Formats: sequence, C-alpha cells, structure tokens
Amino acid sequence: MSNVYEKLVRKEAKLAVIGLGYVGLPIALEFARRIKVVGFDINEKRVEMMRRKEDPSNELEPSEFDGCDIHFTADLEDLRDVEFFIVAVPTPIDQQNIPDLTPLLGATRTVGQVLKKNDYVVYESTVYPGCTEEDCVPLLERLSNLKFVEDFKVGYSPERINPGDKEHTLSSIVKVSSGCDPESSEIIAKVYELVVKAGVHRAASIKVAEAAKIIENTQRDVNIALINELSIIFNRMGINTYDVLEAAGTKWNFLKFQPGLVGGHCIGVDPYYLVYKAKELGYHAQIIDSGRYVNDSMGGYVAKQTVKKVIASGTNPADARILVMGATFKENVTDIRNSKVADVVNELKSFSCHVDVTDPHADAAEVKHEYGYELSHEMKGPYDAIIVAVNHSDYANKDEAWFKGMLKPKGVLVDLKGIYRTRIKDLTYWSL
Ligand SMILES: NC(=O)c1ccc[n+]([C@@H]2O[C@H](COP(=O)([O-])OP(=O)(O)OC[C@H]3O[C@@H](n4cnc5c(N)ncnc54)[C@H](O)[C@@H]3O)[C@@H](O)[C@H]2O)c1
Repeated sequence: MSNVYEKLVRKEAKLAVIGLGYVGLPIALEFARRIKVVGFDINEKRVEMMRRKEDPSNELEPSEFDGCDIHFTADLEDLRDVEFFIVAVPTPIDQQNIPDLTPLLGATRTVGQVLKKNDYVVYESTVYPGCTEEDCVPLLERLSNLKFVEDFKVGYSPERINPGDKEHTLSSIVKVSSGCDPESSEIIAKVYELVVKAGVHRAASIKVAEAAKIIENTQRDVNIALINELSIIFNRMGINTYDVLEAAGTKWNFLKFQPGLVGGHCIGVDPYYLVYKAKELGYHAQIIDSGRYVNDSMGGYVAKQTVKKVIASGTNPADARILVMGATFKENVTDIRNSKVADVVNELKSFSCHVDVTDPHADAAEVKHEYGYELSHEMKGPYDAIIVAVNHSDYANKDEAWFKGMLKPKGVLVDLKGIYRTRIKDLTYWSL
C-alpha cells in the first residue's frame, strides 16, 4: 500500500491547512502548486477574500494564487477526504501573559471530528515543548476514537518566516520537522521537501522540534532585552548606544542586536510559553522572565524620556503636542498586533500630552479598534517632540530640515532606531 506522501504526490490524497494567516496561507499556496490542497479557515470573510486571490494578511500578491490547486473553505465537510492536516492557527497569550490555547484546541477539535485511520496531523503553531502530545493529541484521540501512533500519526514542524522579509521565504529557509515515530518523521520531512528547497532538518522528536522553535525567539528576546538594558544604562552615562554598538560590533564575535520596542505575535509572546511550561515543571525561568520585563517596559521608558526632554525645553506636558511616526509592530509591515508603540502613546497620554500618530502602512480602522486612537492622515506641526518609533523605509530619507520644519524651535527628535544619528546637527536629539 502506498504511503500518504506517495498518494499526495500522485494527487490521490489531499493536504489541508487549518488557519490561513501569515503562516498558513503561504504554505498552503506553496503546496497547492504541486499537490491537491484544501485551505480551511473559520473566518468566512477571510475565506471569501482568498477566493478572490486577496491575502487578508497583505503579504502575498494576487499572482501568487495563480496555478494553485486549492479549495478555500470554512466548511468542515470539505475536510472529510483529507489525509494530511497542517495546523497553523494563532497561539497568543492572555492578559496575564499565560498561553491561550483556544484557537489551537479549536483547530484540533475540527481535525479530530474528521480524522480517519492512517491520517497525519502536523502542527506548525508555536507552542511550548509538550503541547502537541500533552494538549492536542488526547483531544484528537477522544474525538476520533482512534489511537495515537497506531491509527494516526502526529508531527510538529515550526515555521520560521519573517513578515515583510522577501529574502527569507518559506522555500528558502531550512525547515525543522518531526514525527511521533521514525516512519512518520521521514514521511513528514519528505512532504515538506516538496516545497522547501533549502532542505528539512529531521528533529529527534516532537518535543525537540517544539523546543527548537521556542528558543529561537527566546534567544532573540533575551538578547534584545540586554541591549535595551544597556541603553538605559548608557543614557544615564550620556553616551549613545548605537555609537557603542558600532564600536563593539567591530569584534568578530560580538552579537549584533539593537535596542527597541519588542512587539508582534512572536518574539514578544513565545518566551511566555516557555516561562509558563518551566513554571509548571517547578522552575522559575528568571532570565527569560527578566528579558520580557525589560522589553515590555520599553514603551513606557521611551515616553518618560520624551516627556523629560519636553519639560526641559520649557513646555508643560499638558500643553505639549507630540507626533509619533510608526504604529506597526515593526518596519514595512501592516501588522499592528501587539505593537508596543501603543505603550508609548498611552504613557504620553497619561502625562496629558496631545499625541498624533501616523503610519503609512497601518490601517486606521484596525488601529482604532485595537488601541482606541485615531491615526492622523496629515502631520500638522509644529510639534514639541517627534518620536520616530518604527524604521519604515518611507522615513529613511527625512533629513534635519524636514524635522525642523515639523518641530517648534526647541522641539525634540526622538529616534528610537538611531536612523538619523549621523545626520542631526542642531536639533535636540535622543535615541535609545
Ligand atoms: N506570523 C509569523 O511571522 C509567524 C512566524 C513563525 C511562527 N508563527 C506562528 O504560527 C502560528 C500562526 O500565526 P499567524 O501569524 O499565521 O496567525 P494569523 O493570526 O495571521 O492567522 C491565523 C489564521 O487562523 C485562523 N483561525 C483561528 N482559529 C482558527 C480555528 N480554530 N480553525 C481554523 N482557523 C482558525 C484565523 O482566522 C486566521 O486566518 C502562531 O503559532 C505563530 O506564533 C508565526
């Protein structure tokens, strides 16, 4: 009997991707250029958009839907003849920074209801080590009345794509994969090799693959936290962090991290999954937790530094007009989820400052819905301070004359990413 890999290649079996967001849609389309795919999402509006070749996450062009053998659906019935499931739904945290597995378990319930003997389920959502086998598999077994390993196979293969990054794409980055036994591990890796040109690394187990993903982002978070802490120290010393990093970066093994706001739904979220699991096992992950504390505090810190400069310029914060440039969680993306710019804005407002926020990429209605403030279409100077919070390429060419035109004579330029560091001569300037 042929295995599921061979059936997929011969188009005798279907692969489904559950959850078609930043991660799910690109992988679904990539597979659909070679094999039969069902793209399933619970959000009917998003399904409608994808049928019209529109990517709801604004990452893919309509042409990238061309030549794909894919059926977009929100109907469970369309999953009944699927033999290989990939789950790529969000794994957020709640208000208390505790993992919120609602979407993951919801998607697992969907799969559990249609799971058949010999089917495969591979999770791509970022989770803590153990989540796939301890939280998801029992639900699959219960709903399908089938036995894990014996009747159906499960694997884990984390995603590494980076929103807005056109160089590191799904097919050009090595993918880690794993299975619940040697046979499934090999079959899952071969299925991914259909689309990942850079190759597939077979991890030793599902838990190892889960841990590998979570530490990639935890390592970045802790390193950025260290640089953020250094920037707080250097600020007290009156030296510029970017100057220090430029000097230290001439050493061959110095790690090149920069200070900044850590937002988004990966780096600022994933370490909490590891902290949670460690705590469950009786260990308080102090370094990871401290990194999260430092990075989560940066928005408030930036706002306070700005207010201090405004006061020093002779303006009462309640009379100050401040422009914040950039609202997305990082440069050149439209995604505003978990953007720490909101922390800067809220802290400024707590000092009674009048704040205008502008962004060439963010959607005004989404910002209003998520954070409760309006995006300004126009920048109406003069301002007491301008905070360039995100290094969108649209901002790269602004020069001192432009900022002078937007600021009051004693106005302050706060340049979080140090973009204008070498270009500002007269203005009061501050960066992390
Ligand atoms: N965005 C990234 O760059 C990135 C990179 C690596 C890993 N990840 C991880 O991948 C996972 C998915 O993230 P994302 O950014 O693609 O999320 P997303 O929010 O962009 O998309 C998730 C999609 O899943 C759908 N969905 C939610 N619950 C569902 C359910 N029960 N059944 C079916 N569909 C459901 C939503 O409607 C949405 O279309 C997360 O675990 C994330 O941490 C994301």
